[in-house]
Amino acid sequence: MKIAVPKEIRVQENRVALDPESCKKLVQAGIEITVEAGAGARAYFPDEAYQAAGATLIQDVVALMADADFVVKVNALESRPDGTHEADLMKPGAMLLASIFPTRNLDSVRKMAARTITAFSTDCIPRTTRAQAMDTLSSQANLVGYKGVLLGAMELPKYYPMFMTAAGTTLPAKVFVIGAGVAGLQAIATAKRLGASVSATDVRPEVKEQIESVGGKYVGIELLSSAQGGGGYAAELSADDKARQAKMLADHCATVDVVITTALIGGVMAPKLIDQGIVSSMKPGSVIVDLGADGGGNCTLSKLGGTVEINGVKIIAPLNIPSTVPFHASMLFSRNLLNFLTAFWDKEEKRFNLDWNDDILKGCTVTHDGKVVHGPTLKALQAGTEK
Ligand code: NAI
Repeated sequence: MKIAVPKEIRVQENRVALDPESCKKLVQAGIEITVEAGAGARAYFPDEAYQAAGATLIQDVVALMADADFVVKVNALESRPDGTHEADLMKPGAMLLASIFPTRNLDSVRKMAARTITAFSTDCIPRTTRAQAMDTLSSQANLVGYKGVLLGAMELPKYYPMFMTAAGTTLPAKVFVIGAGVAGLQAIATAKRLGASVSATDVRPEVKEQIESVGGKYVGIELLSSAQGGGGYAAELSADDKARQAKMLADHCATVDVVITTALIGGVMAPKLIDQGIVSSMKPGSVIVDLGADGGGNCTLSKLGGTVEINGVKIIAPLNIPSTVPFHASMLFSRNLLNFLTAFWDKEEKRFNLDWNDDILKGCTVTHDGKVVHGPTLKALQAGTEK
């Protein structure tokens, strides 16, 4: 069994799918690992470290992909600068493990099915205790929450903490986090550690206690209808609840210095929660950090991947934040992949033992035997809409 690690080709992607430490463990388990030369360089994992881990370096990505039984990547297979597609470089029938976000990358899904690639998407792994160690959504969201708070601090014309100095006392900045899943809870904890006064909201009722446990003050509305979407994800709010939440958000955002939004529906799509009215009620000098940007943005005024300033309110909407912390993002992503691979690797037989009734494989297999087998992706293909 030969697993290949190509260099990511997406613009501004600094991560790599496997770090040398995980390569070493896979080699010890009897798997041959090939790595494109320079694949880990932007995450500060040099070629020499991969060689020391027992991996073979290959200069030519075409040869690397053509010879692999299994390819591991951070992102979905994509078109290359020379016009070829990564899917077409893979052996027909080979396997792929990556964070594909299949409903956002339908073209890639079509290409994988046509090439008879068996593709597993880590972002579709079910949220069960057994699968927790394989969950790239969580490992990467944690980094997003942390870095989002720092980005807000960089733009804010104030300190986060309270300082008592000879020149006088500064009051702590008020940070409001919208959406308290993995990213949101890390944002609350990080802002709290930096000395801010933190409040937060969410639509899943169990979250109130979690917000308080990391030092935030819960603000919210009593929902008239449930917003539980199943599988740990939130669903879209009813029209009544949306209107009541919008009023709460307008009132609260007007009182804070930094708003950090992390809300997602179904784990992929960002609901629009902050509109022009809310932005114009905010104080000049305040900052919105739209961490829902990869899912389309939580603020209607966000420029995805950029910054805008409206009436003195800065709105920053960074894309692919994990790539800006590439060492730890890659290390944790790599552990997630390692945990997936070793869970299905039969050391004695030296092959992957894939039981198609396994709940993890059922949840995360996107294409197999030339067909798209992932329910939400099939729906998106039929509707012809990416999200
Ligand atoms: P997510 O990234 O899908 O969404 C972020 C947050 O936005 C969620 O907390 C969601 O409730 C909230 N949200 C959605 N619409 C909103 C709105 N209109 N207003 C305010 N907030 C809104 O969620 P994430 O971070 O993936 O976590 C969701 C839950 O799943 C958490 O409880 C987490 O601990 C759990 N989880 C469990 C895993 C496992 O057991 N393997 C793995 C990952 C997460």
